[in-house]
Amino acid sequence: MGYKGKFKVWRGDASGGDLKDFEVEINEGEVVLDIIHRLQATQAPDMACRWNCKAGKCGSCSAEINGKPRLMCMTRMSTFEQDETITVTPLRTFPVIKDLVTDVGFNYTKAREVKSFTPPADLKPGEYRMQQIDVERSQEFRKCIECFLCQNTCHAVRDHEENKESFSGPRYLMRVAELDMHPLDTAADRKKSAQEEHGLGFCNITKCCTEVCPEHIHITDNALIPLKERVVDKKYDPLVWLGNKIRRRTSSDA
Ligand code: SF4
Ligand code: SF4
Ligand code: FES
Repeated sequence: MGYKGKFKVWRGDASGGDLKDFEVEINEGEVVLDIIHRLQATQAPDMACRWNCKAGKCGSCSAEINGKPRLMCMTRMSTFEQDETITVTPLRTFPVIKDLVTDVGFNYTKAREVKSFTPPADLKPGEYRMQQIDVERSQEFRKCIECFLCQNTCHAVRDHEENKESFSGPRYLMRVAELDMHPLDTAADRKKSAQEEHGLGFCNITKCCTEVCPEHIHITDNALIPLKERVVDKKYDPLVWLGNKIRRRTSSDA
């Protein structure tokens, strides 16, 4: 059974904007993205929103619904009361282009800063061998659909524009963690770069990123905390410290 629902949608661009009120038809089985499409079709043809799959897999339709970072295509209207006013605003952490569309270029910059997987020089593609347990450890992280909801939510950048330069955010720290776990990766020290280039120290393991991940990836528990532990082990483990000292001495003697 259809009903008339109330929506407030942010309209504007980089120079400013406001919430606009809409009353709109809502039908059984619909999701928030359906309603935005209906507004475009009937009341606001120039309303901008980004979407592609309508199946929770492309990661394009990220927005804030009643203040919570979510995918519009995976947010069912049946989860709201019929007399509730539903507010849809653009992701807060990234600059607005128009209406619900933001410039998520920050994430692509951070992605490019992670040095790619570097296999041993003497192995050719097809010769890589690794234990199943190592494959399974990183499998979870590969479910990421790059919706950037975690990046949008993390308070280290959400409330601190000034941190964007030195902090890569949960999605890309997770990528560093994944590569650091990879038994065939020979790139320069991932732990050191996590700390010094990607700002792992900014993360205080609040788990807000994990809470909003539509793929239910345990970003904090399975990627960020273990990476932090490995960084600490490397820095403070007396055997590692001794090994490094001997290595340094041997190379300076040579
Ligand atoms: S756990 Fe770390 S990365 Fe995730 S939201 Fe909290 S501070 Fe940010
Ligand atoms: S880790 Fe989850 S929340 Fe973050 S970009 Fe990937 S799918 Fe989205
Ligand atoms: S439209 Fe692809 S995830 Fe929503």
